[in-house]
Amino acid sequence: MKESLLENLRCPLTMGKFTLEVYEKEQRKYGETEISEIKSGLLTSPCGYVFPIVKGVPRIQMESFIEHQEFIRLYKKDYDLIKEKIYKDWGYVLAQAIKRNKKTKQSFGAEWGLFRHGKDTTWDFTKESRKKRVLMELQTTPEELKGKKLFDVGCGNGVLTSGVSEFGIETFGLDVSNSIENAYLYNENPNVHFIQGDLQLPPFAAETFDIVYSTGVLIVTNNTELSFSCLSGLTKKGGIYYVWLYKPEKDFKHNALNVARAFTNKFPIKVQYWMFLILLVPQGLLKMRLRGIKRNWREQLITYLDVLSCEFRSEHTPEETEVWYTKRDYMKPVVTIVEYLGFGIYGKRK
Ligand SMILES: C[S@@+](CC[C@H](N)C(=O)[O-])C[C@H]1O[C@@H](n2cnc3c(N)ncnc32)[C@H](O)[C@@H]1O
Repeated sequence: MKESLLENLRCPLTMGKFTLEVYEKEQRKYGETEISEIKSGLLTSPCGYVFPIVKGVPRIQMESFIEHQEFIRLYKKDYDLIKEKIYKDWGYVLAQAIKRNKKTKQSFGAEWGLFRHGKDTTWDFTKESRKKRVLMELQTTPEELKGKKLFDVGCGNGVLTSGVSEFGIETFGLDVSNSIENAYLYNENPNVHFIQGDLQLPPFAAETFDIVYSTGVLIVTNNTELSFSCLSGLTKKGGIYYVWLYKPEKDFKHNALNVARAFTNKFPIKVQYWMFLILLVPQGLLKMRLRGIKRNWREQLITYLDVLSCEFRSEHTPEETEVWYTKRDYMKPVVTIVEYLGFGIYGKRK
């Protein structure tokens, strides 16, 4: 974590500014630039909630202080008292967050755990082709983007977050799963920050970003419109809020996958992994080859896990989504991409 990130971060519960304790630092090289970053530390909110910084990544989730309790105990001898106070003051929020995120963290953690940075493509896109697509999605140019702040919500493997920073912007990637560790580790650009967090409790103040960007994410949360709402205030006035969402389809393949998922996502994630690898990947790779698309087994398995493992998955129409924007102080939005499975839409904040 770069120390400069601190001024942007807020406690997701109270919006209070954090107090930072640094335990370990490391030098990171980005080309010619060398930056001293925080490898481990602790962020404490004025309300007493604590969020650890582990492996260079701030973990700003309600459950992070439990997941990393051994680490916090090394530095906080009164950990049990801190924990007791958090349970007393925020126990209900914590319980909901654990329930809401548990399976999502497992399924997407396994999915992105397969991804090899520098070797694999994401949804058949290279970093360069994803950068081009972002320009199309936002109907913008690199010149227009320069100097802006972009929040990539549900950043997955972080390739896009890191890639678009090459347009001369500062980017902030947030993801609920441990995929964020490799996103941070393999990032090669200096103007990039990664945070583990829950988009329904974002650790940023209102009107922090010029662009809030989220592709393929809100529809894998428990409530798409609620998630949309949790992010809509983060855009500055005149800023852009882009989302890519699944849309309903009427064909057999689509319906069959939706039915299959209700069954497959109930298995433990390890069972799903082996089941998809043995039963689906070989024939999937063959089909792709026949269509002229070259994928390796990891890319193919990531696709199956993405479609068949997630706990939540919903579909929406562009018309329905337009109303979400106009209800929340945005101008009439623009649909910039319509594809087989989904569509991309952005609105400008009034
Ligand atoms: C289909 S992937 C898309 C990843 C990335 N946006 C991309 O296009 O490559 C969905 C991502 O959303 C993340 N996600 C799901 N629920 C989330 C939440 N509540 N908060 C933050 N991230 C979440 C998952 O961990 C996963 O990495």
